Amino acid sequence: MTDNNIYPIFDRMLSRQDKEELLGQHSMMIWFTGLSGSGKSTIAIALERELHKRGLLCRILDGDNIRSGINNNLGFTEADRVENIRRIAEVSKLFIDTGIITIAAFISPNNDIREMAANIIGQENFLEVYVSTPLAECERRDVKGLYAKARRGEIQNFTGISAPFEAPAHPALTLDTSVLSLEESVNKLLDLVLSKIQIKK
Ligand code: ADX
Repeated sequence: MTDNNIYPIFDRMLSRQDKEELLGQHSMMIWFTGLSGSGKSTIAIALERELHKRGLLCRILDGDNIRSGINNNLGFTEADRVENIRRIAEVSKLFIDTGIITIAAFISPNNDIREMAANIIGQENFLEVYVSTPLAECERRDVKGLYAKARRGEIQNFTGISAPFEAPAHPALTLDTSVLSLEESVNKLLDLVLSKIQIKK
């Protein structure tokens, strides 16, 4: 892009492959989508620990963390959710280009938003995991008390209550934490990802 006086230097920087060789791993994006309280963050944290134990370097990007930092100026309108995920996808791309296994835990409530993320990150790097825990169970848990507030009308645009959630059509994996234990979910993920990220020696 030279038309706006911007001259990217990507072609002179060390490549993703150089970084992957240094780290001895293949990077990729493991993208969790699902309702608030479905278990995305809990699974992400447990997965990171298992991968770390195997000598694999990961980075978790998580809704409440990102929204208290880089995205602290965004709310929950459709437009703000798009911008939230767009920035997250751009940041994720930086991690993936650094050879790091990147684990995202965001509601990312519809196919368009998730497709935008996959296109920014690269479809070939993107593994979509649907944490499909039913709304009734998420609301029963109500870990943060947000469902109760949403029902009382104290939070607007709350996903599942006053804003839509569209389930992914073809996720690589579906995990319902009302049925699966945390260990079972993580084992399913390890079965899916280890062969893709471990470099055969
Ligand atoms: S996303 O829809 O833009 O992908 P994101 O994952 O970043 O959402 O943030 C979701 C978290 O924000 C929820 O887990 C919850 O803690 C909090 N939150 C606050 N208000 C809302 C709301 N209106 N809808 C959904 N989540 C909300």
